[in-house]
Amino acid sequence: MAFFELRLFRKGVSMNILGELRSRFATILAGYTDRPGEFLAQIHTSQDDRFGDYQADFVMPLAKQLGRKPREFAEELLRHLDVSEIAHPPEIAGPGFINFRLRDDYLERILEEILTDCRLGVVPAAKPETIVIDYSAPNVAKPMHVGHIRSTVIGDALCRTLRFLGHRVISDNHIGDWGTQFGMIIYGYRHFLDREAYHEHPVQELARLYRLVRQLIDYQEGLKKRQELERQLAENEASLNQLRAQSEGASEAERKKIAKKLRQVESQVIKLRDDLAEVCAKINAVERDDRLSRIAKEHPDIEQKVLQETAKLHAGDPENLRLWREFLPHSLDEMNRIYQRLGIQFDFTLGESFYHDRLGPLVEDLLKRGIARESEGAVCIFFPDIDTPMIIRKQDGAFLYATTDLATLCYRMETWKPDAILYVVDFRQSLHFRQLFAVARRLGFDRVKLAHVSFGTVLGEDGRPFRTREGDTVGLESLLNEAVRRAAEIVNANDDAKPGGPELLPEERRRIAEVVGIGAIKYADLSQNRTSDYVFSYDKMLAMTGNTGTYMQYAYARIQNIFAKGGVNVETIRQLGGRIILKHPAERALGREIVRFPEAIDLVVEDYRPNQLTAYLFGLANRFSTFYENCPVLQAGNAEERQSRLLLCDLTARVIRQGLELLGIEVVNKM
Ligand code: ARG
Repeated sequence: MAFFELRLFRKGVSMNILGELRSRFATILAGYTDRPGEFLAQIHTSQDDRFGDYQADFVMPLAKQLGRKPREFAEELLRHLDVSEIAHPPEIAGPGFINFRLRDDYLERILEEILTDCRLGVVPAAKPETIVIDYSAPNVAKPMHVGHIRSTVIGDALCRTLRFLGHRVISDNHIGDWGTQFGMIIYGYRHFLDREAYHEHPVQELARLYRLVRQLIDYQEGLKKRQELERQLAENEASLNQLRAQSEGASEAERKKIAKKLRQVESQVIKLRDDLAEVCAKINAVERDDRLSRIAKEHPDIEQKVLQETAKLHAGDPENLRLWREFLPHSLDEMNRIYQRLGIQFDFTLGESFYHDRLGPLVEDLLKRGIARESEGAVCIFFPDIDTPMIIRKQDGAFLYATTDLATLCYRMETWKPDAILYVVDFRQSLHFRQLFAVARRLGFDRVKLAHVSFGTVLGEDGRPFRTREGDTVGLESLLNEAVRRAAEIVNANDDAKPGGPELLPEERRRIAEVVGIGAIKYADLSQNRTSDYVFSYDKMLAMTGNTGTYMQYAYARIQNIFAKGGVNVETIRQLGGRIILKHPAERALGREIVRFPEAIDLVVEDYRPNQLTAYLFGLANRFSTFYENCPVLQAGNAEERQSRLLLCDLTARVIRQGLELLGIEVVNKM
């Protein structure tokens, strides 16, 4: 475990204070338990500054295990613990918490160390690992939408952070380039192509064909679903009325029971109405449009036909393969343009098609090894502890998403021999990954760490999955454009309002708006607890106050502005170096936060949560604000104090910039 390692530095100062405290306790706890890690994990930063800087919460559980009185036990532990050069004498609080307050001179020394450390105190991993990160992975040829943002942005932040820690990270974009969407486009191409448009702007025309075929399939499906939904709705409405009638004459106790049932049925009715409305909207969209309804009539079996086109492609039909080869580069260009704008690069883009030839042999191998077996004509893998089997070959011989993912896993293991593979994928696929990981173990890959880094849904302000007013998912590109447009408004207004008149050239304004707009979108996503859903709001994400990317970029620019105003050359300040003095409480609070940067990074990688870093950066920026309000920098009392405060400003800016960089977000000097 990383925090056992003593992290000693040139002057014998460890820059990861939490790690240092833990390692000192580790030696002592070894005498009491053979699982010290679990208890050491209960040493953390104090929630409230009043209780000091760190607190150890493990005394009570450990004392209980040992049958000791907690406070007494705490005293005994403290007799063995020497942290005198780090902290004031630790205090035992309440039933047995231990509180630590760092010594100011210790903090000052660490800050002085960090001044000359380009890693800002973050120590490279003692044992670098090979980590494959599977993220973004859109299904190409469909336009990218807001749902793709999460995987892309979280995955990228994890890549950057793990790389910064010295791991060998391999990013692999497992794009969906072999799925039914190609059957749809091939069908569309054969029947609905606008040649001129395709020639002019192939990507747009292919996207149009995709949407058209999708719409027609949705229509046919909708007709079937509508009947079924109407039937269910009528049924539920009937039982609603029945329950209401029952409730009238019932006793108090009975009524309570009925009320509970009523609520269930009511919510079922609401859901059915919603679903029905959605289906009807899709049907109406076609029926209201003469051209569309004519096409729909001419292609009544489009769903089947599309499946056949996909099957032909998979079977190696030369014409469909040719079309696939023709379409794919266009989709990839489109996708790469968005990645470029987002500043995202992959080491590999091995999509589903890459594994196609491996699927047949893989299934045979799994059958031979007894891992899979035939069931009702299909090939399945069954699990003792998971109800649903994993189907890897359908009755008709087709392979599935799961088959490809198994082949991908084998390939990655053989090619890169990773210590870990992280899948940054929507929570809805959690069953799939549980199954996949279970099969991996049976295949003998028992040492690799496999993690489904799952995330929730992006919601609109109505609390439902984010869509356009027309009910389509929102295209990623238009999302970026809108954020940048709004960022431009803010940048322009800020610049126009500058006391000495505007300072930015039009070109600078545009560039800043791009950085601020894209940064806002990324930060809004990364600052969420990844497992929860979140509501997408341009206004909130671009707010100049609160935990937003814009606020962080503003905090950075503000510091650069201090330097500019004072005619201070940062390089000179750095070369001059000197002492850091933490006299004012706001100075100390800021310094104390700066040295926590390595801890924040550790928290990010512990459970793959970039929001640990945004939360830290937000706290840092707030402490900087308080510092700046209370401690004059350019007008400091004397030269030594001025230099110390300038260094604190510079350190803050460096941590913000480095932190944002790990999140894939750029900074600007002015905004
Ligand atoms: N293309 C898939 C989707 O859009 C995501 C793929 C994730 N990666 C994986 N190895 N399964 O749902």
